[in-house]
Amino acid sequence: MITTSVFVGTSVDGFIARRGGAVDFLGSADAIDSDMGFADFMATVDVMVMGRNTYDTVIDIIDDPDGPDWPYGEMKVFVLTHRPVDVRPELASVVETAALAPEPLLRELESRGYERVYVDGGQTVQSFLRDDLIDEIIITDVPVLIGGGIPLFGDLDADIRLGHVDSVVFENGCVQTRYRVLR
Ligand SMILES: NC(=O)c1ccc[n+]([C@@H]2O[C@H](COP(=O)([O-])OP(=O)(O)OC[C@H]3O[C@@H](n4cnc5c(N)ncnc54)[C@H](OP(=O)(O)O)[C@@H]3O)[C@@H](O)[C@H]2O)c1
Repeated sequence: MITTSVFVGTSVDGFIARRGGAVDFLGSADAIDSDMGFADFMATVDVMVMGRNTYDTVIDIIDDPDGPDWPYGEMKVFVLTHRPVDVRPELASVVETAALAPEPLLRELESRGYERVYVDGGQTVQSFLRDDLIDEIIITDVPVLIGGGIPLFGDLDADIRLGHVDSVVFENGCVQTRYRVLR
């Protein structure tokens, strides 16, 4: 049975990025310099599904000479997009593109032997939530209000009930809360 998780950082007012896509505010509590469980989380998943906008942002960040390296190691990343992607040679073995709706995408991943999916990107997470296909949500609230931007959550056809699993307060003031989706 394939399972899905979200691991995301948000401003306290619920945004994952500024309107133009910048995620600089995630560093406003030294958050970006601190792992805050990301490596441990990555060890629990075996494949990633990422929206095209998130992929483009990650490429911009790693293209910055002062920026980090590709953050997902050897993990296979499926980039959801309707447009061609010019995948650079060094990422060719890890990046694949797909244009499937959440349910058929999960069936495809399952058929390829994947079991634990990391779902990333605002619109992408929202589409999986609308189809009731998210099992776990880990949100790290960064102590800043940015007033507007790209929201993590959006419209739903019905309420989604969450069970609180645990919360961690980091020294930098970030609060990480883990929920499981109740069905
Ligand atoms: N704070 C955090 O932890 C965090 C985490 C992730 C992302 N972000 C930020 O959030 C921003 C991106 O979020 P976003 O809400 O704009 O969108 P997103 O989910 O990253 O990307 C949305 C795009 O993905 C494509 N897509 C989604 N579902 C698809 C499907 N089923 N089939 C085909 N294509 C599909 C579409 O691109 P097409 O145009 O190709 O149709 C769509 O416009 C970036 O700035 C990123 O850095 C922040």
